[in-house]
Amino acid sequence: MSDILVHNEAGVTTLTFNRPDKKNSITASMYATLADALAVAEADANVRCVVFQGNETTFSAGNDIGDFLNNPPATGDSPVFRFLRGIAGFPKPAIAAVCGPAVGIGTTLLLHCDLVYAGDNAAFSMPFVNLGLCPEAASSLLVPQMLGYHRAAEALLLGEPFMAEAALEVGLVNRVLPPSEAANYAHAVARKLAVKPLSSLIETKRLMKKGQAQQVMAVMAEEGESFGRMLREPAAREAFGAFMERRKPDFSQV
Ligand code: COA
Repeated sequence: MSDILVHNEAGVTTLTFNRPDKKNSITASMYATLADALAVAEADANVRCVVFQGNETTFSAGNDIGDFLNNPPATGDSPVFRFLRGIAGFPKPAIAAVCGPAVGIGTTLLLHCDLVYAGDNAAFSMPFVNLGLCPEAASSLLVPQMLGYHRAAEALLLGEPFMAEAALEVGLVNRVLPPSEAANYAHAVARKLAVKPLSSLIETKRLMKKGQAQQVMAVMAEEGESFGRMLREPAAREAFGAFMERRKPDFSQV
């Protein structure tokens, strides 16, 4: 079984994180599959929208930490950055069904989805600072816009999780449902979109996003440079090593 399942049906491409033993954490090869699938979905006129989902207990634990330790992305063309540009610029509607932990990119990718449905067990977190890193996916721009500066500082500087109801309150999610219903609900919405005129969907999304589309890409590129550099620095190496060794990190020397 692949770690990313790609399923096309009735105008909807569903991308499923399918690595449950590692909490759906995402490796470079999974990012490559996602980036390729988005490019195909964009080009295929039969595809009207995409749905991201995990399972009822886990959306994604974010980047695979071992993969980042051993195989950090080297250039802007690395799969993770290709995926991020792909989702940020994806012209058709993107929907997410989120249950359980949505860590790091598991949360930041939602900033680029148009509709998000959460199980009441969803827990969102962006613990970049705790990993010796900095925000990615233009989250340093989009999270303060969405949450307001002080709540963004709480989410990004402290990196503590917030739950589905808090995400609903700030507008990160559209609706909170029992975990067993979140994916079905997202797919019902996807089917509604899939019978609407594609040209109108694309133009409406373009018009809603165009005000800051360039800025989002520019911020993402700047974050990407810092993130790529910081992955190799002592703070991140200590954080990743601590995670692998199941101990608390010691940042007193970094
Ligand atoms: N990268 C690599 N492996 C990961 C992972 C990640 N981001 N998240 C979880 N895993 C692995 C664990 O190492 C463990 O593997 P093992 O069974 O071989 O020991 C397995 O997935 C289960 O994880 P565990 O921590 O035991 O599950 P949990 O239910 O107690 O906690 C999380 C779930 C998501 C809260 C926790 O795994 C976590 O905090 N993960 C790290 C998240 C993170 O920092 N991501 C990076 C963001 S940039």
